[in-house]
Amino acid sequence: MSQYQIAVIVGSLRKDSFNRKLASAMEKLAPPEFSFKQLQIGDLPLYDQDEDANQADAVKRLKTEIMAAQGVLFVTPEYNRSISGVLKNAIDHASRPYGQSAWTGKPAGILGTSVGPHGTAMAQQHLRNILASLDMPTLGQPEAYIHAREGLFDESGSIGESSKDFLQKWMNRYVVWVKNHTA
Ligand code: FNR
Repeated sequence: MSQYQIAVIVGSLRKDSFNRKLASAMEKLAPPEFSFKQLQIGDLPLYDQDEDANQADAVKRLKTEIMAAQGVLFVTPEYNRSISGVLKNAIDHASRPYGQSAWTGKPAGILGTSVGPHGTAMAQQHLRNILASLDMPTLGQPEAYIHAREGLFDESGSIGESSKDFLQKWMNRYVVWVKNHTA
């Protein structure tokens, strides 16, 4: 049986990030042939095009980890109706130098949760534009705009009962999406 490594990019550096908790809980809904690694993006320098020929070690590490993966899972917060700066910074770093993007062709999924009622809908739409330009085939449906409210997670950090069916269906679709794009 093939194994699938998924690079998980969480767009929040906050210690108690709901999005990080969501990423960890989603991993438990995947089949055993899927493994997930949350990539570190908090130590990346601010992107500077002058450094393209001399990328920092943290950037090289990020790119190596993405290239080794069969798929990418973005779990994004919404900051001022878009994605966070740290997430965009990571995306820009791994897209360069020109012609050497680590993202090209990697099948992607997008999830996100916020305390607002729109559940990162705007941020996710912005992210879709970015991923299209990076030539990443991105799962379209189901969309998952998740309101971070009481009961989203249970005591063990798993997805709570009220969202479990929906997010299990999301994961099932994502698994097929990745498999179809790595066949
Ligand atoms: C937010 N938050 C927020 N929420 C939302 O639904 N729409 C928004 O536009 C914003 N804007 C925003 C800007 C900034 C700078 C911050 C710090 C926060 C609230 C946000 O959803 C909340 O802080 C989440 O908890 C962030 O995700 P993590 O860090 O818990 O993963």
